[in-house]
Amino acid sequence: MTKPLVAGCLILVLLLNVGDVECRHRRDEDEDPVYKLFVFGDGAADNGNYPNAGLNQGSRAWYAPYGMSDDDNGNRPSGRLSDCLVQSDYLARILGYHESPPPYAAYRPRRRNNRTDQAGMNFANASAGVWYVGPKVSEQVDQFRSLINDGAITKQDLDNSVALIAVTGRDYSEIVDSASDGYVASFADVVTKEVARMVAQLQEVGVGKVVVNSLPPLGCTPWTASRFSDYDHCDARANSYSDAHNRALADKLRDMDDVMLLDVNMAFTELLKPGSGMSGSFKFSHGSRPCCEGKDKDSYCGQYDDGRRPRFDVCSNPDEYFFWDFIHPTDAGWAAVMQLFQRPIMRFLDISKFNNIVD
Ligand SMILES: *[C@@H]1O[C@H](CO)[C@@H](O)[C@H](O)[C@H]1NC(C)=O
Ligand SMILES: *[C@@H]1O[C@H](CO)[C@@H](O)[C@H](O)[C@H]1NC(C)=O
Repeated sequence: MTKPLVAGCLILVLLLNVGDVECRHRRDEDEDPVYKLFVFGDGAADNGNYPNAGLNQGSRAWYAPYGMSDDDNGNRPSGRLSDCLVQSDYLARILGYHESPPPYAAYRPRRRNNRTDQAGMNFANASAGVWYVGPKVSEQVDQFRSLINDGAITKQDLDNSVALIAVTGRDYSEIVDSASDGYVASFADVVTKEVARMVAQLQEVGVGKVVVNSLPPLGCTPWTASRFSDYDHCDARANSYSDAHNRALADKLRDMDDVMLLDVNMAFTELLKPGSGMSGSFKFSHGSRPCCEGKDKDSYCGQYDDGRRPRFDVCSNPDEYFFWDFIHPTDAGWAAVMQLFQRPIMRFLDISKFNNIVD
């Protein structure tokens, strides 16, 4: 995406900050959503597929302070790695829904009627990687395909359907610091080949439109940025992994019809820029510093010690932070990212009704 378009969106982004922090809002019943949404990926999009197996780092999204801004849900955690909503929720809002369609984990087929929710289904799983980190996103595509085979998702459901593939790049944690640029490029080639294969599979079973995230700047996540400079600077090396991935991904998706590459990398980069540009006149005044962070390097947001004392610090104003925990954006972060893409997504999907995706 080009700079002028980004600038054009700035006014919209500024509007986002007006009003309170309530993050789920109700829509008029008469707005008939046209698209069904099917979601694949990792913690950027998971709304409850990663199981709650007792408090540990993997299932922390089921524990406070996750969900702390979620007024409509009693400020309780919902399995989302955020203080409220995640990317899939904001894509759903562009389509006219309140939030993401329900998670696959909540699906209970009944003998008489095993149809899935009319809004679609979310298969994204916080722990998923594309190729090197399991379980793989392709297993989510398999879950989707088996529901189609069972008749729980029908051909009619797939007419006017849109899929989101939201991958944040866990695979790249496999790369060691000493790896050569050539190695990184061929690694990215394998990962993106797999993404392109999933896009083709989704289209084969009848999904009409596919939105694919580019990889966010891995060197700007609190996890990476803090290692080098107390959150002040992004790590160029880790960012080069994202760039390699995104070059390879753009290459592979270029000739595919009905696919939109969502330049999430550009959006994160713009919104995280310190002192000037968007974040300067905007509210994300903390750079890569997360709202919620472990007190030391062995603890994580949401963790308690035996005496039930928190082993983390959490801010009181998450809507001023882009990042929520060491890797995932806040609700406000995702809202800002998806506002930048609302018009282009509407064009891609031929949607003319503009839904306010934030309150
Ligand atoms: C999500 O992944 C975990 C493994 O990391 C798995 O135990 C769980 O069943 C998956 N969720 C769903 C709904 O498939
Ligand atoms: C859904 O219902 C159809 C027909 O009633 C049946 O053939 C299929 O096995 C069911 N699928 C599941 C997942 O229960």
